[in-house]
Amino acid sequence: MKIADLTFEVLIEAGSIAKRVDQLAQQLNTEYAGRTPIFIGVLNGSFLFVADLVKRMTIPCEVTFTKLASYYGGTSTTRKIREDIELSVDISGRHIIILEDIVDTGNTLSYLIEKLKTHAPASVQVCSLLLKPGKLESSIEELRYVGFEIENEFVVGYGLDYQELGRNLPDIYRQIS
Ligand code: IMP
Repeated sequence: MKIADLTFEVLIEAGSIAKRVDQLAQQLNTEYAGRTPIFIGVLNGSFLFVADLVKRMTIPCEVTFTKLASYYGGTSTTRKIREDIELSVDISGRHIIILEDIVDTGNTLSYLIEKLKTHAPASVQVCSLLLKPGKLESSIEELRYVGFEIENEFVVGYGLDYQELGRNLPDIYRQIS
């Protein structure tokens, strides 16, 4: 499959994503029972993951979004982080679960975790659908829930984009050339 100038092949099919999201939700339902967590989705890439995951939550929970980006439409990370949407909820004393589409260098996530901690939440954990362990620049203690570990490759689909294209694809694809 082609998106702009790049070629991709399927890496994770929609059915496998759905099964894994279901398992993550079950785990969160158990571990956060009685705590009414606040999910914070990191836009844009996490929108499908957030939608699918929270539909499977059976415990009381809140859902909100923030928008941070360290990639500007290319296939490799830039170090600058831009913040487009400020958090609109009071998180002090609350249990926070950050929902990410993918953790690559981890810079975006580390920035967000530090920022959230200044508002005195009761706890902060991260649930990321994808993780590239080989790219992670420093270990992130809060990254407790991971859907799939993948190689150091560029992926699109299920919310992830290449030059803003491909977010709508139900499967996850990897770049082959
Ligand atoms: P990090 O700060 O390097 O961990 O980058 C995290 C952000 O970069 C993610 O939230 C994505 O928006 C984007 N990103 C990282 N890897 C990929 C990829 O393979 N495809 C599409 N976007 C990616």
